[in-house]
Amino acid sequence: MKASEAWVLPENLLAVEKRLHDRPSGASPEPFGHAGAYLAYRTGLDGKLIRSHALADDGKGLAYVRSLSETLALMGHRIGSAILDVGCGVGTITDALRRSVPGAEVSGMDLSSDAVLAAQERYPRCRFIRRSADELSLVPDASLDLIHAREFYPFTRTEDPGFHLRFLRAFAPKLRPGGLIILGPGYLAANAVADDLGLKKWWREPEIVGQARAKGIL
Ligand SMILES: C[S@@+](CC[C@H](N)C(=O)[O-])C[C@H]1O[C@@H](n2cnc3c(N)ncnc32)[C@H](O)[C@@H]1O
Repeated sequence: MKASEAWVLPENLLAVEKRLHDRPSGASPEPFGHAGAYLAYRTGLDGKLIRSHALADDGKGLAYVRSLSETLALMGHRIGSAILDVGCGVGTITDALRRSVPGAEVSGMDLSSDAVLAAQERYPRCRFIRRSADELSLVPDASLDLIHAREFYPFTRTEDPGFHLRFLRAFAPKLRPGGLIILGPGYLAANAVADDLGLKKWWREPEIVGQARAKGIL
């Protein structure tokens, strides 16, 4: 992994959140990236910071799941009922999955304690676990139909294949036969949020997304 990508290691993300919790009282959490945004959101200090880090709008969450279902249907798949949403942030998509899939049992998992606390408060009908998504000992083998991750840093913020494999190796045994892993880059939703907020789009869509768009699939 490149040194510039090492911030994405679970131990480094946890260290940032710890520094944030240890900061002098009254200091702004803003410079601490997504962790600061979660803290500011959870404590009511600033609800807007979160918008460039995670979906917090239920309508956008439902729209995202709808477009995901439609894309899967084009490929002959459907979303099964036992779902784990990894890197779930404040749980917006986790709950949108629960509301959109009949009979769904949905859990969310995130490394950030502030994100998980906010998610538990917002969506008591989902279960949330604070843990790194490569530590799935709590999840029985062959128990899931879908492992979903949107804009999940271990895949979107590093090109290190060894790090990707570390997560895929943890995910694979947890799937039932025919189960799916969906790694959502979130470009479409991210573009929509950027348009809404007038933010600069600094990410690049993978070529396959451009091709799908050109064919009218997306
Ligand atoms: C950009 S946010 C996306 C949140 C949510 N999926 C969404 O789309 O709104 C990325 C999330 O991944 C979480 N994350 C990063 N590394 C993780 C890991 N190893 N295990 C679990 N969560 C992780 C972060 O805490 C953060 O909440």
